Amino acid sequence: MAGIRILGCGYSYGDRIVTNDDMAKIVDTSDAWIRRKTGIRQRYIAENKSNLDMAQEASLSAMKCAGVTAEEIDLIVVCTFTQDDPTPSMACKLAGKLGAGNDILTLDINSACSGFIYGCITANALLAGGSFRKALIIGAEKLSSRADMTDRRTCVLFGDGAGAIVCEYSEDGFFESNFGCMPNDTILGCGGDKGAIYMNGPEVYRFAVSKIPQSINELVEKTKVGPDEIDYVICHQANMRIIDSVAEKVVFPAEKFYKNIQNTGNTSAASIAICLGEMCEKGLLTPGRKILCSGFGGGLTWGSMIIKV
Ligand code: ACO
Repeated sequence: MAGIRILGCGYSYGDRIVTNDDMAKIVDTSDAWIRRKTGIRQRYIAENKSNLDMAQEASLSAMKCAGVTAEEIDLIVVCTFTQDDPTPSMACKLAGKLGAGNDILTLDINSACSGFIYGCITANALLAGGSFRKALIIGAEKLSSRADMTDRRTCVLFGDGAGAIVCEYSEDGFFESNFGCMPNDTILGCGGDKGAIYMNGPEVYRFAVSKIPQSINELVEKTKVGPDEIDYVICHQANMRIIDSVAEKVVFPAEKFYKNIQNTGNTSAASIAICLGEMCEKGLLTPGRKILCSGFGGGLTWGSMIIKV
């Protein structure tokens, strides 16, 4: 079956580790509360790096891993809602930083924590059309720039980072997906008087633990891909308890779920891409492997995909 396939992956973190004890010096919280409620132990914050810096580092590492030069890439998709500036797009700036040619389509996708899934769906459709050869897809977020550091209900959850993959369309590839949108800007969003991230945590939790298993189960049903054919499952890293709850409601054993939220916190559109980068570095993404990824977030939006290495 034809579809995109991953040629290489990379990642980058913010430059400073911030522990839960560090967060307890800023807001009224504790290491015990954060660990128990979320599984997070630390997060990386970009003090001296921009969002673009992290996107560039992740991209260079993915291109090196893939053995692909900037001139060979003709599509760059950056998934983020925390651009350093509203325009030019991050993708356009990144093309300049990487030294890509001028015959290139660059676009940013703003779908919050579902962003990387939406970016891959978009890239797969564009590459399937035959007008593009190789795509660089990045999830990058500097959430510290939009966090309300007076709100303990949200600020302890987030981290900064970027992940990137290089893909090409191949007869030997595989890509299937589903997605959805349930417009509601009161439960989860970024803006308002403070221009910061706001969230009704329990509502988001309920949404995630029902919608993500449903999305995964529907994708498995639609594709007829058996549990043994999927090597790893990556859920958006928002909360360890959400991931564990999802694992109980789908056909894949808990061991197939890759998790890094304990070290990174929630990095929104970057989270699944960072997982792929880490897994690649650990030698887990050998050619032929299939990974099921599932994201949810602001919108409310959700989506799942099966992608092949
Ligand atoms: N430290 C200590 N206490 C806290 C903290 C904190 N950081 N935050 C909240 N509390 C308190 C609350 O004030 C509340 O106390 P009260 O009962 O006296 O009012 C109590 O803890 C329980 O608060 P809840 O919000 O009900 O806690 P809950 O069990 O729902 O856990 C959490 C909160 C972890 C946020 C959970 O709801 C969750 O993970 N939701 C999903 C979040 C998510 O997935 N977000 C993804 C989107 S992010 C994006 O799009 C950028």
